[in-house]
Amino acid sequence: MKALEAFRGSSNLSLSVKEIKMSLLNQKTNKKELKNDNYQTPWYAIKPLEKYIPRDWILWDCACGDGNIVEFFNNNSYSAIGTDILISNEHDFLVDWHFVTNSADECDCIITNPPFSLKTEFLERAIAFNKPFAFLMNITSIETQRRQKVFQDAGMQLLLPNKRISYIVDGVQTTSSWFYSAWFLFGFNLEHDINYVEINK
Ligand SMILES: C[S@@+](CC[C@H](N)C(=O)[O-])C[C@H]1O[C@@H](n2cnc3c(N)ncnc32)[C@H](O)[C@@H]1O
Repeated sequence: MKALEAFRGSSNLSLSVKEIKMSLLNQKTNKKELKNDNYQTPWYAIKPLEKYIPRDWILWDCACGDGNIVEFFNNNSYSAIGTDILISNEHDFLVDWHFVTNSADECDCIITNPPFSLKTEFLERAIAFNKPFAFLMNITSIETQRRQKVFQDAGMQLLLPNKRISYIVDGVQTTSSWFYSAWFLFGFNLEHDINYVEINK
């Protein structure tokens, strides 16, 4: 967690993955309430992003869950921090707590798999920070007039994996998924709007 510690030194905002996990264990009641949002991202699904993200960027998972995204990037020579509402209400991405606004100020890019039930709110909030961000979402997220307006205004681009992503649910790596996910990118200014990527499970 070298990078994480370095960032913590400057801001005192981030928690190590171990601290995040401890905190989550202590929040079982909340966890139950948010059960449908408890899909943790496996590393193989995060890997395609590496190609598009400069190594000197500070990355922030604003809904980090068990910390897989933070862990992946910190293990691959990036600096990544994580916050989650399960740690405390002050980490609620949708509210102007200093944890949230300071993390947003100090990061170069937000990367998360947003809670299924709040994806529109997360999208609108991330856009308001005016920084590049990458959200892993069900491909059906392209639906709804409200979200299409957001995508159109913000110039959304896509990374389309060649396979469905199977998530980690309650600590168990599932072997299949009933939906197809893609990375929705904002502020990356890629040459193509649709980018096909390989994932290796
Ligand atoms: C689908 S999980 C993703 C976890 C992690 N980002 C990953 O990809 O492995 C969504 C997470 O969003 C968190 N969450 C839900 N509402 C939130 C909010 N308003 N602010 C911050 N985190 C929130 C949940 O606690 C959950 O851990």
